[in-house]
Amino acid sequence: MLAELSDHVMDIAMNSVRAGSKNISISVIAAKEQNLLTVTISDDGTGMTAEMLKVASDPFFSTKKKKKVGLGISLLQGATQMCGGEFSLESTPGEGTTVRATFALDHPDLPPMGNLKETILLLCVSNPEVRFVFRYRLEGGEIVLDTNEIQEVLGGVPINNPQVIGFLQRYLDERL
Ligand SMILES: Nc1ncnc2c1ncn2[C@@H]1O[C@H](COP(=O)(O)OP(=O)(O)OP(=O)(O)O)[C@@H](O)[C@H]1O
Ligand SMILES: [Mg+2]
Repeated sequence: MLAELSDHVMDIAMNSVRAGSKNISISVIAAKEQNLLTVTISDDGTGMTAEMLKVASDPFFSTKKKKKVGLGISLLQGATQMCGGEFSLESTPGEGTTVRATFALDHPDLPPMGNLKETILLLCVSNPEVRFVFRYRLEGGEIVLDTNEIQEVLGGVPINNPQVIGFLQRYLDERL
């Protein structure tokens, strides 16, 4: 199974990219009082029909070409179940998809966070046409990164420009 939460985030967000989304929002929220870690990824991509939704979490379902297995969703679902959490997948054709996974924060099998910073950076830089909104909240505070806002500040400089990557890296380093 996937070892780290950041790997799950990458996989689910790449599903959204492949679904042609223009807007993808990713939030990772830890609420200690409720002992809950909630990871939500929503997109405005093609969405899935009711039939597709039923089989989307089947490890043997994939619409990727030349691929007989599609593990991303089933692995995340499995991980939440192992950690006293819940998994939900909602989708409307033509509107988009929302994946929500919760975990008990204190569960001994809770996967490590992994390198979420790198995941965020990779997603932004390799998909400059997509607007990403990341929200990350832990006890310490909250960070929000909206690639549209960054794009505005940059005034036309593409987000995958090397200097911008450096700026993003520092921005995240200071906050994550
Ligand atoms: N956000 C989404 N929008 C539209 N369709 C989706 C979305 N996420 C998943 N799907 C559909 O569900 C299928 C299964 O997704 P899953 O992540 O489990 O496997 P995969 O992406 O095909 O392969 P893998 O994740 O192993 O590389 C996808 O092939 C795609 O058809
Ligand atoms: Mg996938």
